[in-house]
Amino acid sequence: MTATRGLEGIVAATSSVSSIIDDTLTYVGYNIDDLTKNASFEEVIYLLWHLELPNKAQLQDLKQQLVDHMEIPQEVIDSFKTYPIDKVHPMAALRTAVSTLGLFDEEADVMDKEANFRKAIRLQAKMPTIVAAFSRIRNGEDPVAPRKDYNIAENFLYMLNGKEPSAIEVEAMDKALVLHADHELNASTFTARVCVATLSDMYSGVTAAIGALKGPLHGGANEQVMKMLTEIGSVDKAEKYILDKLENKEKIMGFGHRVYKKGDPRAKFLRDMSKKLTDITGEPQWYEISEKVREVLTSKKPLPPNVDFYSASVYHSLGIDHDLFTPVFAVSRVSGWIAHILEQYENNRLIRPRAEYTGPGMRVFKPLEDR
Ligand SMILES: CC(C)(COP(=O)(O)OP(=O)(O)OC[C@H]1O[C@@H](n2cnc3c(N)ncnc32)[C@H](O)[C@@H]1OP(=O)(O)O)[C@@H](O)C(=O)NCCC(=O)NCCS
Repeated sequence: MTATRGLEGIVAATSSVSSIIDDTLTYVGYNIDDLTKNASFEEVIYLLWHLELPNKAQLQDLKQQLVDHMEIPQEVIDSFKTYPIDKVHPMAALRTAVSTLGLFDEEADVMDKEANFRKAIRLQAKMPTIVAAFSRIRNGEDPVAPRKDYNIAENFLYMLNGKEPSAIEVEAMDKALVLHADHELNASTFTARVCVATLSDMYSGVTAAIGALKGPLHGGANEQVMKMLTEIGSVDKAEKYILDKLENKEKIMGFGHRVYKKGDPRAKFLRDMSKKLTDITGEPQWYEISEKVREVLTSKKPLPPNVDFYSASVYHSLGIDHDLFTPVFAVSRVSGWIAHILEQYENNRLIRPRAEYTGPGMRVFKPLEDR
């Protein structure tokens, strides 16, 4: 038995949800380019869960159900007040809050298909509310209730900032949600599938996935990118900063990918958004520093930017706190996690690989008194 480090190149499941072939990402056969230009996040959710695009009535029904379930139990809001709120990272808070949410869902352990779809709606609907409410409470503000006439992108920005978002902000948020929704067998999705393949429940699967997304090699990279851009501070300092990091063999966050080699097809949309939004906010430096970082890094290493690189300046321009960037990723990716969880339940087999043992050979046991 020989292990493959990081399971690189190992095909660990079949899936009809999304694919990456020759650096092209598709959701259920639709190119991400077409979906980003033409579909709303809600249409993408429907596509991922039902493996078909919705017609008008189906989309309206999904939107209605989502908005009807956006409010979160008061107990979850109250539980935030028990957290060390000025110290806790919002991803840790989200992980705990989703787990807590499961305690208040009477169907949490009901495993039939219909119950799982109902939980899917509730989880997807409540994730933006959790992130926004946590953010407001830690800032000493009251949570803002969702609006019935808003979609997820509008409601998220509205509940977060307490004011009506502009059309351009909503468009950027909606496209970012579409772009982050699913990504084949990425680390957090694999985590979710491993968890529910034991026939554990959907809340456990999503809680586990949030834990995996939190790390800086996965979803946590977008926050680290903004930290880097802030540390660089101005375009003229970017070159030295990057060269020093490379000299020290440090990784540059927001670059590289296990699967894409030529480039991440999602990055170009976020790059365009970053340019547009940073111009509007009067902070073009974030886009300009990003461009300089890309220029310097790619002249040294064949590492194209990934989804997290330009999403950092996009989220910053939307007025989102930097440590909320990864929770925003989760607000979108939960749609993909749920799609994969539903798929796993449909054709389940326990996921239990083997390990290549590298410890000592057989040893003679010594009683405690002889050691
Ligand atoms: C995404 C990532 C985890 C993929 O990892 P991986 O497939 O295991 O690739 P490795 O970490 O083994 O990297 C392979 C080589 O490229 C280098 N490399 C990879 N990403 C790099 C980066 N962002 N900056 C600098 N060098 C990088 C590694 O140092 C390694 O070089 P070496 O062979 O000389 O040691 C990795 O590219 C990374 O850490 N990127 C930064 C974090 C990030 O943006 N994550 C979000 C992904 S969407």
